Amino acid sequence: MDEQELTQIIERNKIEQNGLIAMLYEVQSKMGYLPEAALKLISKNTGRSLIDIYSVASFYNAFSLSPRGKHIIKVCMGTACHVRGAVPILGELQRKLEIKTGETTDDKQFTLETVNCLGACALGPIVVIDDNYHVNTRAQKINAILAKYSQIHDDENEAME
Ligand code: FES
Repeated sequence: MDEQELTQIIERNKIEQNGLIAMLYEVQSKMGYLPEAALKLISKNTGRSLIDIYSVASFYNAFSLSPRGKHIIKVCMGTACHVRGAVPILGELQRKLEIKTGETTDDKQFTLETVNCLGACALGPIVVIDDNYHVNTRAQKINAILAKYSQIHDDENEAME
């Protein structure tokens, strides 16, 4: 095998891998997660094994194999945030939402996740909800923070009535 042949193999597989990721990303964007039926259909139409597709889907944190909430809460549990009080914040979120890390509330409003470092350690502890950074957070602030997002939910329901 010469270098040109090896390059062709790498390029061909790189494109296929990106194609699969692009497909999964689009399904996730539209459905909020990757349903098994969608993965089976991708497998059928691409010829890739379901196990292969599952391994890609479960490798990337951006993909979820179960339904997620409307609001994604990420608590930074990196060293700096941990030292500054991330543990009681996570505990308070779990208590208020009545879910554990990785779970979604029954009303599908919130999914609780943890991350290892958001790269803004000096501002910790940090909680990110959707794309909003809540810095220097304290467990005592969790009620007020959650109320903002619940308010958005209430406002939307009122607008629909
Ligand atoms: S440890 Fe939380 S932002 Fe770095």
